[in-house]
Amino acid sequence: MPQLQRKTRSLEPIWATLDLTSPGAWQNLHPVLAQARERHPLARDSSGEGWSVLRYAELDGLLRDPRVESQGPEMLARQGLDGGPFHEFVGRMLFTQNGPDHARLRALVGRAFTPSTAARMRPRVREIAHELIDRVQGLGAMDVVRDFAHHLPVRVISEMIGVPEGDYTRFAQWTSDLGLGFSLVLTPDRRRTVDAAVEQLHAYVSDLVEERRRRPGSDLVSALIQAEEAGDRLSHEELIAMVMNLLFGGHDTTKSLLQIATYTLLSHPQELERVRRDSALLPSAVEEVLRYEPVVTGVIRVVCEPFEMAGVKLDLGEPLVLSLISANRDPRRFPQPDRFDVGRRDNRHFGFGFGLHFCVGAALARVEGQEALGVLVERLPGLCLAERPRWVPFTAIRRLESLRVTF
Ligand code: HEM
Repeated sequence: MPQLQRKTRSLEPIWATLDLTSPGAWQNLHPVLAQARERHPLARDSSGEGWSVLRYAELDGLLRDPRVESQGPEMLARQGLDGGPFHEFVGRMLFTQNGPDHARLRALVGRAFTPSTAARMRPRVREIAHELIDRVQGLGAMDVVRDFAHHLPVRVISEMIGVPEGDYTRFAQWTSDLGLGFSLVLTPDRRRTVDAAVEQLHAYVSDLVEERRRRPGSDLVSALIQAEEAGDRLSHEELIAMVMNLLFGGHDTTKSLLQIATYTLLSHPQELERVRRDSALLPSAVEEVLRYEPVVTGVIRVVCEPFEMAGVKLDLGEPLVLSLISANRDPRRFPQPDRFDVGRRDNRHFGFGFGLHFCVGAALARVEGQEALGVLVERLPGLCLAERPRWVPFTAIRRLESLRVTF
């Protein structure tokens, strides 16, 4: 009998299995990920397809390893998508480009969109946050997602890009709908919504680019039109794609950051009190939110040169999900990883990715997170949760269904 047990055990795979197909798992991903992460650095999806990489050291290596690269729209095949507007859009996004194409586009955007561009926005971000709180202050209650997080980033990025105020609402809807495309499960209904959003946004941005060519201003689109690197410029389609990329990147992810940050602080009253008493903690509080509850669950790569990792052979073309959310809670890297500590030091998390594709908008997102939280905490002293919120399941860009608070 003992012999048989040993034999059975040796047939078990060494790696972990990850089942994220139940909506319930998405209400608290951390225990599911922790169990798999403690078993092995790699987990096979329960479908039997693809690998998730779960530990910090392995992600750290892979995010700068030339044997893996970003995947183009082929990554959508698992959702049953092999064409259509969203498929094309993903193929033109900066994070799906590799090699010289990526380097060229990244250098061009880097000339137009610098950390000082973000720093200059700080007073305006603060002003917008105050305006949004002015609207709700007398009401004693609000939904942070609908009344605050949805509006602030779209106004900031729209002003930077030069979108007229009258267009903010439909514009915010398109970028929000588009974000749903990055889901584990894409129902036909969701797919229609996402494709329609891409088409409308494309038509809108195309007109905007034409307009700025005729009449350049001091906005980001005009800067992108003028950006030149070694005599090279963005072509018309590349420009449209880049503006769409920045609009989308600038809205949907930051909208999530603001809601998740508010929720995380409100569910840790002692930490909230620390920030309230000492606003110098705001920058480290935002970093800690990005570690503890990151907005983006993982980034996708594909093996372009076979290799072995932790006893597992990774073949050419094998897709890998580098789980930022799991690595950020790896106890091998972060002491007491399940503790939310707004003063945490040595906090090099993967909330904005890492390496060649490190987030272009990180400086702007940080400014928005710090200023928005600062204003919320300062203006609404009695802020507390009205109910426990629910996460929207299956989304790679995490979001809450709503976040009702009283003050
Ligand atoms: C809290 C807010 C944000 C989060 C959590 C976030 C997260 C990320 C992550 C994880 C990546 C890496 C993708 C990869 O490695 O495949 C990324 C890339 C990128 N982000 Fe962000 N982002 C945020 C805000 C922004 C903003 C405000 C913008 C622009 C205005 C932006 C534009 C981009 C772009 C263009 C890339 C592609 C970079 C490349 O491939 O070289 N993001 N972001």
